[in-house]
Amino acid sequence: MTLSRTYIDNSGQVTEVAVDQLAMVEENSLHAEQLVQTEQFSAIGKMAASIVHDFKGPLTVIRGCAELLANPEITAEKRERYTNMILEDVDRFLAMSQDLLEYSRGAVNLDCQPVKVGAWLGSLADYIRDTACTGGVRLDTRFNFTGEVKMDEYRVRRAIMNLVANAVDAMPEGGNLTIASEVAGATWQLSVSDTGCGIPIEVRSRVLEPFVTKGKANGTGLGLATVCEIVQGHGGRLDFETWTAEEANGSGSGTTFVIELPVERPLA
Ligand SMILES: Nc1ncnc2c1ncn2[C@@H]1O[C@H](COP(=O)(O)OP(=O)(O)OP(=O)(O)O)[C@@H](O)[C@H]1O
Ligand SMILES: [Mg+2]
Repeated sequence: MTLSRTYIDNSGQVTEVAVDQLAMVEENSLHAEQLVQTEQFSAIGKMAASIVHDFKGPLTVIRGCAELLANPEITAEKRERYTNMILEDVDRFLAMSQDLLEYSRGAVNLDCQPVKVGAWLGSLADYIRDTACTGGVRLDTRFNFTGEVKMDEYRVRRAIMNLVANAVDAMPEGGNLTIASEVAGATWQLSVSDTGCGIPIEVRSRVLEPFVTKGKANGTGLGLATVCEIVQGHGGRLDFETWTAEEANGSGSGTTFVIELPVERPLA
């Protein structure tokens, strides 16, 4: 069957062009297919970039531990600790690769289980002290809520490690890093605070978007976008407060990010 398409050019002239209906249907469905494919590829690309971004942390730890293990004089206790750190980070690495494979098949599911956040954050704090607290950064913890939260612990850990990495980057001269756990009503609030330089005003309004980075030689701008995706995936929200030295007017610059997740079945 033949139809006609009507075009109006710049001068306002109307032209009728005969087109084959079948060809139109084929053309439209081809476009729709290409659009879906493009969207899938760009989503997979984004996911791949965020995972490769987060590979940096575990790989640096594995490298550091392997170097320490090469020293024949370390104690048996340290040997066991470094070996366990390598094994745990290799597992994280494998889990992230699995994420990417699942995502490319269109099947990302959060694995939400009840987690006792007191013990869980305690061991995360030890890991952070061992690996991220360099150059005069001191970690304080305030775990007022230690009960259960239903979450995908591996992904929430990735989110926290991204916030910690940013906090450490913001304190090149050292400073205080504080991780706090509170509960307000049915919401768990996990905050990461630093006494660093504050988020530059120029990027503040866009800082949660992908590829927004400022003041870092090797920043990709994917850290906070990844945190956002993980938090939103849990039905939660991400907030922050920040002051540069100028804004703080002598009372100290710094930044606090707060991850808010629904608790479900709290024990404490
Ligand atoms: N705690 C913080 N203190 C000061 N600035 C921050 C803080 N967190 C984020 N920023 C600012 O927000 C920008 C975006 O952070 P994001 O984690 O998304 O990317 P990045 O850290 O630049 O790069 P990457 O995460 O790939 O290393 C940073 O470049 C930095 O300017
Ligand atoms: Mg970052």
